Amino acid sequence: MEKKKLLVVGELNVDLILNDIQGFPKIGEEIVANKMNLTLGSSSAIFASNISTLGVDTAFCGMVGEDYFGGFIESKLQEKGVDCTYLRRLKEKQSGVTVVMNYDQDRANVTYCGAMEELGIQDIPWDHIGQFGHLHFSNLFLQNKIRKDIVALFEKAKSKGLTTSLDLQTDPDGVFDFDYRACLPFVDIFLPNKSELLGITKADTIDDAMEIIKPFANSVVVKMGEQGSILYNGQGKTVAQGYLHDSFVDAIGAGDSFNAGFISKFLSGEKLEACLNFGNLIGAINTTAAGGTGAFDSREHYIKIAKEIFNQEI
Ligand SMILES: Nc1ncnc2c1ncn2[C@@H]1O[C@H](COP(=O)(O)OP(=O)(O)OP(=O)(O)O)[C@@H](O)[C@H]1O
Ligand SMILES: [Mg+2]
Repeated sequence: MEKKKLLVVGELNVDLILNDIQGFPKIGEEIVANKMNLTLGSSSAIFASNISTLGVDTAFCGMVGEDYFGGFIESKLQEKGVDCTYLRRLKEKQSGVTVVMNYDQDRANVTYCGAMEELGIQDIPWDHIGQFGHLHFSNLFLQNKIRKDIVALFEKAKSKGLTTSLDLQTDPDGVFDFDYRACLPFVDIFLPNKSELLGITKADTIDDAMEIIKPFANSVVVKMGEQGSILYNGQGKTVAQGYLHDSFVDAIGAGDSFNAGFISKFLSGEKLEACLNFGNLIGAINTTAAGGTGAFDSREHYIKIAKEIFNQEI
């Protein structure tokens, strides 16, 4: 039987990344950044691009404008082998942009959502869904239209026989209004970071948060920055230490690269503990180069980083 494809549904934007910034921005003043990069941004696109480079047959469903950035995004996805049949370019909308002001391990982002807010549940290629084996969705709170139907989206994907994964990402409003009771039963792999998990449950610790969502969730993977990640499932709790290193550039997209590593192994039928460990490695590799896709411009490149910096054979 032919191996089924991955369908990524989500937001698309470019990242304008400012690095080596001399101070913090203040209204009425001007400061200088000594480095600038224009790259493929957005959680979903970084995930799609990197998991395709890891060897997974991947298609993208999302919206951009019919403008320069829309063309840039589409060509960057295509360069990485992502099928853009279900990517739509809207005449009347502008493509999304995130300005990233990067400071060491963290960053301040400003996002213009643009076309990404137009994506709705009816834009998913339900009539062609049989070619896909897995659906991944990312960045709920930036996508105002589709977020209303997030439960229906996952329920429908499961009813069509797909496995599913979800990375909520942060809520710019800090409210984290997500009906986890209704949605998580249809999510096979839930991939929050620590603050997102605490945000949706209003708990103070990860263990308390897990007690709250456990009745509704299948497998939950909590991302913990350089500390690594934790898997919770029916078998209990597994902690996987991060791959510490001295070649840190930035952590932009580390979570999405982690997801790419984890889901690539999941789709190969590997045990969840192996998926977790590989997620940590791919997340750590991400942090050795600029932006979310810099370390994954080719298969040769990330294999070389794995060997030279982490002494790991991929
Ligand atoms: N400095 C680092 N060194 C080694 N590994 C790292 C580092 N930062 C992140 N990672 C790896 O990448 C994974 C995901 O990173 P992180 O926890 O920052 O995700 P996130 O908060 O979802 O990030 P994002 O902003 O990309 O959504 C971590 O679980 C870890 O395995
Ligand atoms: Mg994240």
